[in-house]
Amino acid sequence: MGKGFFLSKTVGIVLIVVGAAAVATIIALSVVYSQEKSRNNEVKPTANITTSVPLPPTTAPSNEPWDQWRLPKTLSPQTYNVTLWPRLTPDQTGLYIFTGMSSVIFKCVEKTDLILIHSNKLNMTKPVTLTARGSQPAPSIESTEMYPKTQYMVIRLKESLTAGESYELYTEFVGELADDLGGFYRSEYVDENGVKKVVATTQMQPTDARKAFPCFDEPAMKAVFHITILHDPATVALSNGVVIDEVQMTVDGILVNKTAFAATEVMSTYLLAFIVSDFTFIEQIDNDLQIRIFARKEAIDAGQGQYALNVTGPILRFFEEYYNVSYPLPKSDQIALPDFNAGAMENWGLITYRETALLYDEKISSNGNKERIATVIAHELAHQWFGNLVTIRWWNDLWLNEGFASYVEYLGADKAEPEWNIKDLIVLNDVHRVFAIDALASSHPLSSKEEEVQRPEQISEVFDTISYSKGASVLRMLSDFLTEPVFKQGLQTYLDHFKFDNTVYTDLWHHLQAAVDKTVDNKPPKPVQEIMDRWVLQMGFPVVTFDTTAGEITQEHFLLDPNSKPARTSEFNYEWIVPLTWTKTGTAKPIRWLLEKTDKLEDLKTNENEWVLANINVTGYYRVNYDQTNWERLLNVLRTSRQNIPVINRAQLIDDAFNLAKAGIIPTTLALRTTLFLSDETEYMPWESALDNLDYFYLMFDRTELYGPMQAYVGEKVAPLFQHFTDLTDWKDVPKGHTDQYNQVNALRVACSTGLENCTTLVKDWFQQWMENRDVNPIHANLRSTVYCSAIAAGGEKEWEFAWEMFEKASVASEKDKLRAAMACATKPWLLNRYLSYTLNATKIRKQDATSTIISIASNVVGQSLAWDFVRANWEYIFNQYGGGSFSFSNLINGVTKRFSTHFELKQLEQFRDDNADIGFGSGTLAIQQSIERTSANIKWVEQNKDAVSEWFKNPS
Ligand SMILES: *[C@@H]1O[C@H](CO)[C@@H](O)[C@H](O)[C@H]1NC(C)=O
Ligand SMILES: *[C@@H]1O[C@H](CO)[C@@H](O)[C@H](O)[C@H]1NC(C)=O
Ligand SMILES: *[C@@H]1O[C@H](CO)[C@@H](O)[C@H](O)[C@H]1NC(C)=O
Ligand SMILES: *[C@@H]1O[C@H](CO)[C@@H](O)[C@H](O)[C@H]1NC(C)=O
Ligand SMILES: [Zn+2]
Repeated sequence: MGKGFFLSKTVGIVLIVVGAAAVATIIALSVVYSQEKSRNNEVKPTANITTSVPLPPTTAPSNEPWDQWRLPKTLSPQTYNVTLWPRLTPDQTGLYIFTGMSSVIFKCVEKTDLILIHSNKLNMTKPVTLTARGSQPAPSIESTEMYPKTQYMVIRLKESLTAGESYELYTEFVGELADDLGGFYRSEYVDENGVKKVVATTQMQPTDARKAFPCFDEPAMKAVFHITILHDPATVALSNGVVIDEVQMTVDGILVNKTAFAATEVMSTYLLAFIVSDFTFIEQIDNDLQIRIFARKEAIDAGQGQYALNVTGPILRFFEEYYNVSYPLPKSDQIALPDFNAGAMENWGLITYRETALLYDEKISSNGNKERIATVIAHELAHQWFGNLVTIRWWNDLWLNEGFASYVEYLGADKAEPEWNIKDLIVLNDVHRVFAIDALASSHPLSSKEEEVQRPEQISEVFDTISYSKGASVLRMLSDFLTEPVFKQGLQTYLDHFKFDNTVYTDLWHHLQAAVDKTVDNKPPKPVQEIMDRWVLQMGFPVVTFDTTAGEITQEHFLLDPNSKPARTSEFNYEWIVPLTWTKTGTAKPIRWLLEKTDKLEDLKTNENEWVLANINVTGYYRVNYDQTNWERLLNVLRTSRQNIPVINRAQLIDDAFNLAKAGIIPTTLALRTTLFLSDETEYMPWESALDNLDYFYLMFDRTELYGPMQAYVGEKVAPLFQHFTDLTDWKDVPKGHTDQYNQVNALRVACSTGLENCTTLVKDWFQQWMENRDVNPIHANLRSTVYCSAIAAGGEKEWEFAWEMFEKASVASEKDKLRAAMACATKPWLLNRYLSYTLNATKIRKQDATSTIISIASNVVGQSLAWDFVRANWEYIFNQYGGGSFSFSNLINGVTKRFSTHFELKQLEQFRDDNADIGFGSGTLAIQQSIERTSANIKWVEQNKDAVSEWFKNPS
């Protein structure tokens, strides 16, 4: 799956721009805040605190096969024949349904008188039948029962099946085509004529194929699938394979088209897809391969599929070369769906996307939208081999699948857009992002034990930032120290050896090792597996200190809260085998491996003109600290000759310093001093890194008297950057470079949020012009998020209502997203409360967008407590709606609590956890724990740093 929604950009904007308007509302806010405080004190029950009371065991442990979450190994599916008929209009009772018939031929591997097959929320409409495929007659069926908890259909037989024989199980069933974004589900949209349309589509990963038809729903239970779809003659049906037959016929008095698809390759159930819609497509034939982009007719007619179509061919060809395996299928379809939970899903041959991850409109989409499309397409195409052709055996190894795709998506996108320097951005988007989470004591290792990932919600929980971004970061490090040719070589033999089969992650290590063994140079000092075990089996990462006076390197487990203890022990004692890259005064030194906790490195010692910089381009998954002298020299280089430090490392120095300070390793003021050079900096990466880190200061202090001095400092730094872009573009255009365009947006949003008048006037005028002539939006696509947010924050009901109207009218999903995020920038509590209530109403805010809308509101200093109240009041409903979902749920919990920094807020959070112990937190269970830990760390940090920070901002130097 592609990542969930990307929060950083839009939410960051909301946060800072609102800061400006917050001066006016800070009083109102503290009123709201104290009211809430007293109200809570009143109702807070003290009797039923369940913190220390363990939950009763759900049921006595049972050894019955149907109480196990994993299928027994007695049966092995070979071929399915599935016919499904989704109804795109409701039946007499108002229910949308689909009917189906399915047969599965399976082989009996071990003698058994039980058939366990996954089936969830399906009602059988005919008795199940079993027939023999060999000479032996099939045993007759004793009973058929459903086990909703473990999602099995259990068929008891009068006699046993014979090992080595094949049988065919036939079922007919009906299921609901619900709008629940899982299994076979329905998505609705309104077409260009205002007519409501229904699309039937699927999202099987991880455990919802069983909601579409009875199946052995585990990734290693690969089989061949023959899919047939019945549908209205005016609609098209799509599936993994190409159409082999389409005939018109009458069934139950209804005229339908019956579309049969070619047998699939041997594949996992979670990669199946079938879709019925009235969408249209554009296509391209690339060396005999049919590439098609499907979407709503209006979007295709407007040319929004063209960009995706243009980049798909080059990216596919790139991966064929990278993997040295040709694309395994005869066609590649990609489709944009109006309702979709994840970012995208790599179904084999029929990839599904959120509209914003596939559709691009030259005039309306920003360059960020474009980048998202290129990288998500590359991510999903990468899976067509790594994941689909060769599949992990069980979900505990998901990190390998997702980490790999999240790494090579940058390589694929770079092929499509070589001018972008996109490979650099993995450092901001993945490495820095996941450092923040992996530095918590409650983090977890990449790899989990198979027995720890059993239930569907446990499986959903492994789709997290650690799997995606840490997976990507350590694989990038591995590829870097092995060198790309060796990495590719091992990868290629791995794919060739395991095609159409399943693996565990160590299989990849073995193939990489074989590739290493064939080389002569640059061999790592230890076997691949031994090195990687440290990064995969223990959580977290080290901070490596380069002491240039003592000539010594030392590693230590980096924890954001120095007083916290890792939630689990590590067999490696939280030590790593670290590949160290470094330079002395800009001259590259040979790679140095740190094999122990500490080591001597005489060459590190410097004279007064020398300085040391380590982890060049942040290819290593570790942070770096230096002795005080070297820090001072680096600060000096940043201010006098920053070009001597690569741009990625300028961003790294800021990020490392701020985080080391947070962990109490260096003074906070040293971290703040790494931002002094920004008055001269025009590059995006250092700016983005600084703004990300200053965000934390805003979160902690935007409700305090520090807010003023902080704003003054940031305003002074950004003024030259704003001037730089004024000189370059006069705000009539955007710069050429991809990341320059991002930094132009930073300049605008920060200048406006710190109240630079040239900026606020500019923005207000643009929005005003648009309100006066709503058919012509004068604001450049790149700048819209910022301008909308700024104008709505400064405005009132009129601006908000205008934005809502434009939101409802917008036909491009990315434009809708920008307006949706911007409406969360309002500064009137009643507007925000009303907006929150809209998230419970799917006709106003789509279900897929509900949680990200709540998070946007919580990012607004005014909306924070409103969103928190809202989430608590509606927990049961929210849980039932999203509890099983993969991404949005833990994001929601983290999102609404990230500003928490008082004892009172900590208490509320713990109370919330205890009050809802019975309802539970589903895929957000870990997030609750992380939020509590983060809040405690924030409290301590504020207590320890407030005075020094306050002093520094008043007199920065
Ligand atoms: C508190 O505990 C009592 C006794 O265990 C129980 O009857 C009551 O329903 C609980 N109240 C709440 C609000 O959970
Ligand atoms: C699938 O089943 C249908 C009817 O149940 C049958 O007509 C068709 O031949 C079967 N296809 C395969 C490939 O077995
Ligand atoms: C399946 O059966 C249950 C229980 O009888 C019923 O509530 C549900 O609506 C049925 N589902 C469909 C799609 O018919
Ligand atoms: C439905 O089937 C008929 C007959 O095979 C065919 O002419 C028509 O194009 C099909 N409809 C669609 C939307 O493909
Ligand atoms: Zn993925």
